[in-house]
Amino acid sequence: MCGIIGYKGKKNAKDVLISCLGMLEYRGYDSSGIAVFRNDKVRIVKTVGRIENLKEKLLRYDLDESNMGIGHTRWATHGKVTEENAHPHKVGRVTLVHNGVIENYKEIQEKLKNYEFKSETDSEVVCALIDSYYNGNNELESIEKATKELKGSYALAIIFDGKDKIYGIKKDTPLILGIGNKEFILSSDICALLPYTNEYIVLEDDEIVEIGDKFNIYYDGIIIYKKIEISDYSLEEAMKNGYDHFMLKEINEQIDVSKKLYSKYITNDFINELIPDLSKYKRIDFVGCGSAYNASLIAKYFIDKYCTNGEFYCNSYEASEYRYSNHYFDKNVLAVFVSQSGETADTLACLRMCKEEGIDTLSIVNVISSTMARESKYILPMLAGPEICVATTKGYFSQSYICSLLCLKLMYRRRIIDKDELLRIMEELKKLPQYLETVINKDYKEIAKSIYKNEDIYYIGRGIDIYSCYEASLKLKEISYIHSECFASGELKHGPIALLSKGTPVIALLSEFSVHEKVINNIYEAKSRGAKIITIRKESINIDKNLSDYDVVVPLTSEFVQNLLMIVVCQILSYEVAKLRKCDIDKPRNLSKSVTVE
Ligand code: BG6
Repeated sequence: MCGIIGYKGKKNAKDVLISCLGMLEYRGYDSSGIAVFRNDKVRIVKTVGRIENLKEKLLRYDLDESNMGIGHTRWATHGKVTEENAHPHKVGRVTLVHNGVIENYKEIQEKLKNYEFKSETDSEVVCALIDSYYNGNNELESIEKATKELKGSYALAIIFDGKDKIYGIKKDTPLILGIGNKEFILSSDICALLPYTNEYIVLEDDEIVEIGDKFNIYYDGIIIYKKIEISDYSLEEAMKNGYDHFMLKEINEQIDVSKKLYSKYITNDFINELIPDLSKYKRIDFVGCGSAYNASLIAKYFIDKYCTNGEFYCNSYEASEYRYSNHYFDKNVLAVFVSQSGETADTLACLRMCKEEGIDTLSIVNVISSTMARESKYILPMLAGPEICVATTKGYFSQSYICSLLCLKLMYRRRIIDKDELLRIMEELKKLPQYLETVINKDYKEIAKSIYKNEDIYYIGRGIDIYSCYEASLKLKEISYIHSECFASGELKHGPIALLSKGTPVIALLSEFSVHEKVINNIYEAKSRGAKIITIRKESINIDKNLSDYDVVVPLTSEFVQNLLMIVVCQILSYEVAKLRKCDIDKPRNLSKSVTVE
């Protein structure tokens, strides 16, 4: 996905656009550009690479005297990473920036015989299409006519030659209007608005916003009035606040997130009614992408372990597969969608598919103004605050925390655990912030130094540790580009052990007491092949002191919380490894914070 921005106000548009693009850069960082409007003329500057490159290039241009403009930071989908393919695109009298994917752009391009195209992008075709309907005065009509022909997803910010207004329209991709003091900001998400205002309007599909000295929102050509919402995000939350990276800041913020989740969902040491009782359903389908899918596996693990019987069961699905596979649906099915951004295209499409099937939908989501939060029947806010680092940490933490609460409530309703047992677990949840401090304040640099040069690193575990390994391995892959896989430790000898040679790092997670001896045997198998062993274990599990090259012990707590401590160790280890490899930790190559294209 890309980040789009539009500004109209009293300030220097160039500066505002650049600072907002900086806040949106986690959405895509292949190329960037701005277009500013002055003296009825539109001037465009764009470049390949980061906003820093654009800032540098802008030093050679005098774009200062403008109070209106649009900007873009790109995550390439259609067309290579080149300056021609960078946005803004200008065709005829129309200049625009686009986030999304137009599936039928080739057909439309065929039709636009009188136009020459400089780029390989679908966005330039949209630009030409709007221009083909434009007669110099029908801005709204030309946008409406053109967008009616588009198949796919889009958020557009548009400027017409000679008109000091910005137009915005969206379909299946977020677009928000920020309302400041005599200034307006059109943005792909809230974070970019925060330095200027926390008042905003979320645009719905096919609504057109016209921004001049004041703004109007049109639907089907008629002005509509929409409620202004107030964001509870603070600018500080969206800044690094002295940390080297957003990832390290967000890892540390998990202490506060655990406090917020406790005070939101636990009342008088009891899981409150905000956590729904799943016992009325017969099947729960958990659906998500990437780390969100990994978090849903925690719910599946506990429901399988404690709640599944002939009448009740659950499954976890990768959204891109769930969307196109066969499912039996009836009113006894609940679909739970897990998503930090609430905009991930595959997960959103699954939500809409389930709504069409008439089944109940629940979203565990962080961005409350997001499409999934607004379209779900029920939502469970993740309270993680703005998450800027592309690789999620506190987002995954909050998702798995809430998944555990869903299971615990079900177990209590099903009398699988009694009040005393639940109170004991709630006591552990209350202590979680201090456990997290213990884990976060440990030093992992020595371990990182011993493995950061390796190009292959493996994770092993059993039971719930396998699911923590999935997330740990993904994290390492995302930010350090090291090839990493995770295996059920018992499976090692049935193939993967062939990957091990002298010095190959194997990170073993040990928090499942019932099978820890089995895992220790598997560690010895790996060790006998020369692997470098790193053990991460809960303090009640003892190992021989010579078993591992490095040993990390985490506080003992309830199994419903233990995985959260294990994964935080893995998050920090990945961070330290990526730092030693001088990787761009917050903006890893080829990734984007939430993928709004299929
Ligand atoms: C990826 C992010 O693009 O999408 C991952 O880089 C994330 O961190 C995944 O887990 C799913 O995103 P979301 O917003 O639906 O949780």
